[in-house]
Amino acid sequence: MAVERTLSIIKPDAVKKNAIGAILSRFEQAGLQVIAARMLQLSAADAGGFYAVHKDRPFYGELCAFMSSGPVLVSVLEGEGAIAKNRELMGATNPKDAAPGTIRADFAESIDANAVHGSDSAETAAWEIAYFFSKRELCPRS
Ligand code: TYD
Repeated sequence: MAVERTLSIIKPDAVKKNAIGAILSRFEQAGLQVIAARMLQLSAADAGGFYAVHKDRPFYGELCAFMSSGPVLVSVLEGEGAIAKNRELMGATNPKDAAPGTIRADFAESIDANAVHGSDSAETAAWEIAYFFSKRELCPRS
């Protein structure tokens, strides 16, 4: 399997719960490496730009308000099959449908406050990583 990079966001609800370490541990225990990380408070415009793909969806306004409601931790995860592996660790978008033991099953409140974001394809991952990080901020181990 190819080594990939994916963008992860620990969302405001999970940061408020003091769950940053617990969530990063799950990535590390699954063999993913954190090669960049930054804590930041998104503006509504930052969130809107990031989720522009959803701009015509009915939940877009609330999603942008939620994502800018408190600090987030953005990170880049690297590893074999990192994109799918992260999505598997996250669980389904709606925590009610998320498999037991997934991050969303254990930490998410609802479909809109659902603890984590993860890129859904290689193309999206490249775009999302570049949205937050410059090349020199990526620190792969080798
Ligand atoms: P989506 O890309 O469909 O899910 P995922 O985060 O699992 O890739 O949606 C992006 C975010 O939009 C999702 O994490 C939470 C929010 N959202 C809602 O608030 N309501 C909804 O009905 C959907 C589908 C998403």
